[in-house]
Amino acid sequence: MSVGAAKIPTVVTEVVEVNALIKRFRFVREDGVEMPSFSGGAHTVVEMDDHGTRRLNPYSLMSDPSDRSGYEISVRRDEAGRGGSLYMHRHVRPGQKMLISPPVNLFALDLRAKKHLMIAGGIGITPFIAQMAQLDAMDARFELHYAARDRSLGAYMDELTARHGDRVHRYFDVEGQVIDLVALLSGQPLGTHLYVCGPKGMIGWVLKTAEAMGWPKGAVHSEEFLAPPVGKAFTVELAASGKTVTVAPNQSLLEALEAAEVDAPYLCRGGACGQCETRVLRCDGHIQHNDHWLTPEQKAAGGHIMPCVSRFEGAALVIDR
Ligand code: FES
Repeated sequence: MSVGAAKIPTVVTEVVEVNALIKRFRFVREDGVEMPSFSGGAHTVVEMDDHGTRRLNPYSLMSDPSDRSGYEISVRRDEAGRGGSLYMHRHVRPGQKMLISPPVNLFALDLRAKKHLMIAGGIGITPFIAQMAQLDAMDARFELHYAARDRSLGAYMDELTARHGDRVHRYFDVEGQVIDLVALLSGQPLGTHLYVCGPKGMIGWVLKTAEAMGWPKGAVHSEEFLAPPVGKAFTVELAASGKTVTVAPNQSLLEALEAAEVDAPYLCRGGACGQCETRVLRCDGHIQHNDHWLTPEQKAAGGHIMPCVSRFEGAALVIDR
C-alpha cells in the first residue's frame, strides 16, 4: 500500500465498550456492498483525521472471515501513545464515515498444520478470534491459551469459551496463573504450528522457549506491530523527489513522507513487514532502528531505514525517496 492505494469508504455502525480499556468498532461499506474477503490474522489500516493530523493505524480484523457484511476491530486505549487509540475511543461514533485499507495478512494460519496452538496476551487476542472462527468452520484442530491481567480485562474470554469450549484456556496474572509453556510445547503432536500475539515480553518468551526446545522456525508464527515512538524532531533529504521533510516529535518518518505527498509503500506501519524499507544514501548521525525487520548486521551497517518506526538524530540523513 502507499499514497493513492484504493481505500474503502465505510461507515461506523457500532461502537461497544468491551471493558475499561477496550472498545470494539464495526465498519460497513458506505455503498452497502460486501467487504473484500480476508483470512484470520489479517489487519486493516484505519485512517483518522485527528483534528487536522492524519493518523493511519493498523488493527487486526476480529470478525468472522466468512461474514463479509462488515469488519470488526478492537482498540485498546493507550494514554501514552501518539493519539490514534485515544482518537478512536474519544471521537469515533456510530454514523461516522471513515476510510480503511483493504485487508492484508501478515499473520496467516499455516493450513498445512496438523494442529494450531495459539498463545495470546491482552489485546493480542483479536487476530485469534478471526482465526478460530476460520478453523472452526474448517473443523481444524486448535487450542488457545489466553492470558490477561485480571478477569475484568480478559476481553472476549466468556464469548470464546462459550463458542469453543475447552479449547480455550484462560490465565490471570493477578491470580498468579502462568502458562506452563515448557509443558505445553512439549506435549504437542508432530505437525503442530505455534502462534503468538501479545505484549513484547510474551512474544519474546514464547519465541525463545520454542527455539530452545527445537521447534522448527517455519512452525512458529508471531505478530507484533510496534507503535512509532515519539522522539526529537529531525530533518531528512529525499534524493529521488528532491524534497526535504521535517519529522515532528510525534510523527513517524513515513507520516512525514505522506504529508509531503511522497509515495511511500507500507503494509504494517509497525516495523514488521519490510514493505517500507528504504535505502540510506548518506547518514551523518545515528539512525534509531526501532523495527524488527532489519537484521542486527543491517542495522549496524546503516544502509537502510524503516520509515514507519525508525528515527534519526544527527547532522544529515539522505534517503532514496
Ligand atoms: S510498513 Fe511494515 S515495516 Fe514499515
